[in-house]
Amino acid sequence: MEKTFLMVKPDGVQRGLIGEIVKRLEQKGFQLVAAKLMLMTREQAEEHYAEHKGKDFFEPLVEFITSGPVFAMVWQGEQVIALSRILNGKTNVLEAAPGTIRGDFALHTRLNLIHGSDSPESAEREINHFFKPEEILDYKRDVSRWL
Ligand code: TYD
Ligand code: MG
Repeated sequence: MEKTFLMVKPDGVQRGLIGEIVKRLEQKGFQLVAAKLMLMTREQAEEHYAEHKGKDFFEPLVEFITSGPVFAMVWQGEQVIALSRILNGKTNVLEAAPGTIRGDFALHTRLNLIHGSDSPESAEREINHFFKPEEILDYKRDVSRWL
């Protein structure tokens, strides 16, 4: 089953939107398999966003992402990499459609609440970057057992 790395950024944590974001991913039908609240170090941030090194928004982006706690998660599901990025909404704040997380809650392209891996290669790299294998749980959801 496909897995992806999703992260509520410091603005989402500060604004109390962790629950709202997790709710949307659960309602879509994805399964949470790992999560933790953490502070990203500058080294972690620069590696995470290495593809953007040298761009004008890189330094403000690293400053922002290390400015407070982030909520790092691994989600599992069919086509979760591409589908969760649709739930997240477009990067450019002017293109993020209503109904998406960014479209509904973000006012700024940098302060855009959520990160999602953009390919299977990025997902594998980012999951390994933030989680140890034993932190990622393999479990079956069985609602009927509890009702
Ligand atoms: P990017 O990987 O292009 O977007 P996404 O998060 O949708 O995969 O860019 C990483 C982050 O950098 C993005 O979430 C917000 C920030 N950013 C800017 O601040 N200005 C910009 O012009 C771009 C393209 C991104
Ligand atoms: Mg990206």
